[in-house]
Amino acid sequence: MPKPPVSTPRNRTPDRRAALAQYRSRANGYDNELALFEPLRREAVARLNLGRGDTVLDVGCGTGLSFALLDDAVGHQGRIVGIEQCPEMMDKARERIAAQGWKHVSLVQAPAETAHLDELADAALFHFTHDVLQCPEAIANVLRHLKPGARVVATGLHWAPLWAWPVNLFVLGAALYSVTAMDGLGQPWSGLATQLDAFEVDDGAMMGGVYIATGTWRGAEHRGT
Ligand SMILES: C[S@@+](CC[C@H](N)C(=O)[O-])C[C@H]1O[C@@H](n2cnc3c(N)ncnc32)[C@H](O)[C@@H]1O
Repeated sequence: MPKPPVSTPRNRTPDRRAALAQYRSRANGYDNELALFEPLRREAVARLNLGRGDTVLDVGCGTGLSFALLDDAVGHQGRIVGIEQCPEMMDKARERIAAQGWKHVSLVQAPAETAHLDELADAALFHFTHDVLQCPEAIANVLRHLKPGARVVATGLHWAPLWAWPVNLFVLGAALYSVTAMDGLGQPWSGLATQLDAFEVDDGAMMGGVYIATGTWRGAEHRGT
């Protein structure tokens, strides 16, 4: 059963302080809590269509649970850059990188809205990063760090159809525990949808309680067209 949230997330927009507190308290047990969603993670990484040598951004990377799958896809000649604002989650990611001896995985400890990277990436993953997706500045900053044509995949919780109300009880409990902006659970992908080409949403898994959205970054010169 989800534990009570650290703060009551009734904000319309993400609350950074509440999010930091939320994940500070979850960092130690986080990897076990996400086990149910591992098939979705595998599917999300597969849909990035990564190739050997690619650079991929793992936005809101948390403890780095996606790194091994990303590593399988890009190889040691590729690069994985984790962006994460919570120091305690970042510590776990650092431990994972050290334990694996990964030299091609780097971390940027910063909010996605202000993180600065030295190079443009071939792809970006937003796996269970609802708060990030509800922040237009964060989406804009991540897209600024992508090559035109970069593949973008986002996943997360989503209100299921009304008939699937038991699923929605689960979504409600999980969201209260893991996001600070309850707005946007109807179409969590909407901030990305207007920016990406070939945008598609698949919400067939877990009776509609989760989604995978995919698209291609059209490049800054086409922004808003
Ligand atoms: C549910 S966890 C997902 C972690 C990871 N993507 C995974 O799949 O396990 C959400 C993560 O997003 C981070 N986060 C939330 N808002 C953020 C922001 N604005 N910038 C960077 N990270 C953020 C949280 O600290 C947390 O680690």
